[in-house]
Amino acid sequence: MSSPDVCPPPPEVSAGAHIDSYEKYKELYERSVQEPNAFWGEIANDFYWRVPPPQPLLRYNFDVTKGKIFIEWMKGGVTNICYNVLDRNIHEKKLGDKVAFYWEGNEPAESTSVTYAELLKKVCRFANVLRSQGVTKGDRVSIYMPMVIELVVAMLACARIGAIHSIVFAGFSAESLCERILDSNCSLLITADGFFRGDKLINLKQIADEALKKCDEKNYHVERCIVLKHLGRDEVTCDGMNKTSPPCKRLCADGQTSWNPSRDLWWHDLVKDASAECEPEWCDAEDELFILYTSGSTGKPKGVVHTVGGYMIFTATTFKYVFDYHGDDVYWCTADIGWITGHSYLTYGPLANGATSVLFEGLPIYPDISRMWQIIDKYNVSKFYTAPTAIRLLMKYGEEPVKRHSRKSLKILGTVGEPINPEAWLWYHNVVGEKRCPIVDTFWQTETGGHVLTPLPGATVTKPGSATFPFFGVVPAILNESGEELEGEAEGYLVFKQPWPAIMRTVYGNRQRFETTYFKKFPGYYVTGDGCRRDKDGYYWITGRIDDMLNVSGHLLSTAEVESALVEHSSVAEAAVVSHPHPVKGECLYCFVTLRDGHEFTKKLTDQLKILVREKIGPIATPDYIQNAPGLPKTRSGKIMRRVLRKIAKNDHDLGDISTLADTSVIHQLFENRCQIVD
Ligand code: PRX
Repeated sequence: MSSPDVCPPPPEVSAGAHIDSYEKYKELYERSVQEPNAFWGEIANDFYWRVPPPQPLLRYNFDVTKGKIFIEWMKGGVTNICYNVLDRNIHEKKLGDKVAFYWEGNEPAESTSVTYAELLKKVCRFANVLRSQGVTKGDRVSIYMPMVIELVVAMLACARIGAIHSIVFAGFSAESLCERILDSNCSLLITADGFFRGDKLINLKQIADEALKKCDEKNYHVERCIVLKHLGRDEVTCDGMNKTSPPCKRLCADGQTSWNPSRDLWWHDLVKDASAECEPEWCDAEDELFILYTSGSTGKPKGVVHTVGGYMIFTATTFKYVFDYHGDDVYWCTADIGWITGHSYLTYGPLANGATSVLFEGLPIYPDISRMWQIIDKYNVSKFYTAPTAIRLLMKYGEEPVKRHSRKSLKILGTVGEPINPEAWLWYHNVVGEKRCPIVDTFWQTETGGHVLTPLPGATVTKPGSATFPFFGVVPAILNESGEELEGEAEGYLVFKQPWPAIMRTVYGNRQRFETTYFKKFPGYYVTGDGCRRDKDGYYWITGRIDDMLNVSGHLLSTAEVESALVEHSSVAEAAVVSHPHPVKGECLYCFVTLRDGHEFTKKLTDQLKILVREKIGPIATPDYIQNAPGLPKTRSGKIMRRVLRKIAKNDHDLGDISTLADTSVIHQLFENRCQIVD
């Protein structure tokens, strides 16, 4: 495959783009960082404020040596994000009849859609339900649901009444859900009976029950659990199928829901008589909007907190410019709403712009390998946003399944979640986009709330594998180990020098951890935890995590989290986990386990360990490789040398400097016991 070093924006894309040249980007960028109050003030004016935000919009301290870290944008301004993404679009912009979401189910025959006006009614009804259940402003509500329109309804209903949603990805285990419920002190859980992921029935309610039982055992009692009937309901079009006419598996799987009558309530019973009008709770711009948990290097997940005003204007603005959104676009983000991408670029950002999106419940290659391209043609998707792991998976099947479908509606292709290898970038560009669609490789994090390094499709000359330049308001720098800023071509720690509106505000319930994780290592900077290179043309290239985190299929996991799951097994004395390259997932988990005396390393044991990790964390954390390690390489102070373990996993005998190793004799045995790598 030819590999261009650079890809200029196609003239036809630039012609109609909001930002149509590099010069225009540069001019706006300079203004955004030099005059953030004026720049974001103009953007904020496009939104509805009960009380307009007072100037200056921004107050902050990024320097731990000068006092407490804080970030405030538009404090004193009063608004409601749900009102802005629904009522404002319906009343001011007259978009009531416009489709907000096309829902595409796990099975190709299942679909439905919802307009802005219908969505508002659903949200108001459910917001009234939440209020009637005693939920008030500032209360935390956990949401554990499949990819259905009601998930959006639940989150917006929380936002409407000022409650703080904490969405837990439906692939997480009961243990992980319990941990998140306890950490956020939530009083109510919203879930569903179950759903299908491909062929597999996920009995979500059963997992939720287990989680709530674990909470009870820890003396924390969630009083209410609202359950959406998704398996059995038939108001979703299923192309004439019903319970007696398979293959609509979802309908056939009805009737298995476990129930606790003193705690559980059916969603449909509650909304039946609820009013479709609901006065929003007017919130300060700095009131908390949601908590979203992300892995932390100590093993315990961090509850990243975002607030109403800054998150609203930043997700709206990034969505508009990065996807060069226009009113007739149909946009599709394949991320699950349980991750930040689904929060910012499936829900809040697109809705704030009055966009029409596809919300897809299923899997990329179910029931067949051209499902994605089928969906693109079915809905005439023009802006498509997915992850490198999905691109690599689809690439494995070659060009034919792609070319079976026209994809002529496509205009812009986006990627997010992990570094994209140039080969996957070029396939996406050449085969999927037929060289007409610019690629936006968007770098950001749960903590950044929205895109921070990204091309703009009509303005940026892209390079395959580079996230290019900073978005408006974002000032990146590269530091060396001593914290000195490096100029020009350089490689080191990626940090940001000043806040943009959607930067996280704290770690829920743990301000100390917020300061230590992000601001302590280099006072005066927000530290991303990623390594980065800047080339001679000023392009930024993310080189991957430089802490003890790994990125499996775009999902961050901490090595400590997996290690503590492994050592819970009675046979395991010690465990060390490292990342290992994987052709589809990007990275996978390679685990070294030291057994207790008298225990034997068997296939049965490794199977048990895999199940244990799945149960403790979730299927995304399932180890690919588990190796017997009678001894682990440690420094004299007892620290495991993961750098050496990574090399052993790769069978790379060039171990670098191992002079600090306490006992070199373990190395030979570790090479002997290596797992057979399957590509
Ligand atoms: O390591 C970076 C990687 O994903 C991390 C953030 O993960 P999370 O908070 O789960 O959010 C993922 C979706 C925004 C980052 O620290 N990452 C994300 N996007 C990219 C990336 N690495 C390289 N290129 C990207 N475009």
